[in-house]
Amino acid sequence: MARVEIRNVGKIFGNYKAVDDVSLTIEDGEFVVLLGPSGCGKSTLLRMVAGLELPTFGDIVIGETVATRLRPKDRNIAMVFQNYALYPHLTLYENIAFPLRVAGRRGDEVDKKVRWAAGLVGIEHLLARKPRQTSGGERQRTALARSLVRDPALFLLDEPLSNLDAKLRHSARDELRTFQERVGMTALYVTHDQVEAMGLGDRVVVMQGGRVRQVGTPEEIYLYPADTFVATFIGTPPMNLIDMPGEVLGVRPENLMPVSFFGQESGLRRMTMLVSRIEFLGSDKLIYGALDDPFGQAKVIARLPSSVPADIREGERAHFAVREHELRSFDPQTGLARPAPIPQRASVASHG
Ligand SMILES: Nc1ncnc2c1ncn2[C@@H]1O[C@H](COP(=O)(O)OP(=O)(O)OP(=O)(O)O)[C@@H](O)[C@H]1O
Ligand SMILES: [Mg+2]
Repeated sequence: MARVEIRNVGKIFGNYKAVDDVSLTIEDGEFVVLLGPSGCGKSTLLRMVAGLELPTFGDIVIGETVATRLRPKDRNIAMVFQNYALYPHLTLYENIAFPLRVAGRRGDEVDKKVRWAAGLVGIEHLLARKPRQTSGGERQRTALARSLVRDPALFLLDEPLSNLDAKLRHSARDELRTFQERVGMTALYVTHDQVEAMGLGDRVVVMQGGRVRQVGTPEEIYLYPADTFVATFIGTPPMNLIDMPGEVLGVRPENLMPVSFFGQESGLRRMTMLVSRIEFLGSDKLIYGALDDPFGQAKVIARLPSSVPADIREGERAHFAVREHELRSFDPQTGLARPAPIPQRASVASHG
């Protein structure tokens, strides 16, 4: 397995900067997720690591090798893309064996490798079937197994679960992560789904407009967003941003609670809300409203567990509060967090 270094890498198409000076290190055995809105440059960055796209500037280092100009097949990587085409006329066994046969391997060695990879993803019992005789998830796992038979140093995945239904996505996510930990492989995974990113990543890289906005563990990114973009991109509903003189205050919806909830606690910032609408979502309620002065009629959303009793009605004022230490502050000009969020490399991969 390998460590990957992306050094000041950029990609310009015509006069459009798709990736703009990205630097990032993925440690040996780490699972790093690239997250960002559509068009922010995630796939382009991944394709440069894969060798499918040549950087306009910067270098890609895989293990000890400067790989920037190496062909994909010389990089010892495995790739799984959203459209993982299997050969429909071949059995799953032969699909998985395919890269080995192309590489000139024969006999026992092929058989061992195919069974090993199929075992890892749990499809040994399906090897005699053709792809059309299997489910979407089983096909996905076949593609995974096929990418693994050549002992890759690095695993690159671009939205590999997006073809699966919600339930299958959950189990595939879990399987993928368990499997990655078992094999100890280094992985770079692209998604625009924040839940998937937070659930999978040792660290998450939030990108926007070709640039990295923040790198951190899911907790760091959620609790200490580096700027207002990250603050509102992560979290559903997003962090409330309240314009104040000289600062933008950030409040997560679940931290804005009826004042009665806090009992005798001190260190609270009180906020009165004119409630416009209440949405019942089952386990939670969303409360939409506008804050009285000194918060300048700022529109906010509070998220309340349905189990918390609260006497709140649409069209009426209600008293809310936030713990001071849960408030975030951003620079109104730059949007950057103040004081600066915790150092980016503070806590890497808790999984070994
Ligand atoms: N070959 C190309 N020629 C010109 N522009 C390109 C090319 N490939 C990508 N782009 C542009 O570069 C930007 C980044 O594309 P990229 O595919 O990396 O986005 P992405 O973050 O993967 O988005 P999505 O989530 O939609 O897959 C986009 O604006 C895209 O239109
Ligand atoms: Mg993409």
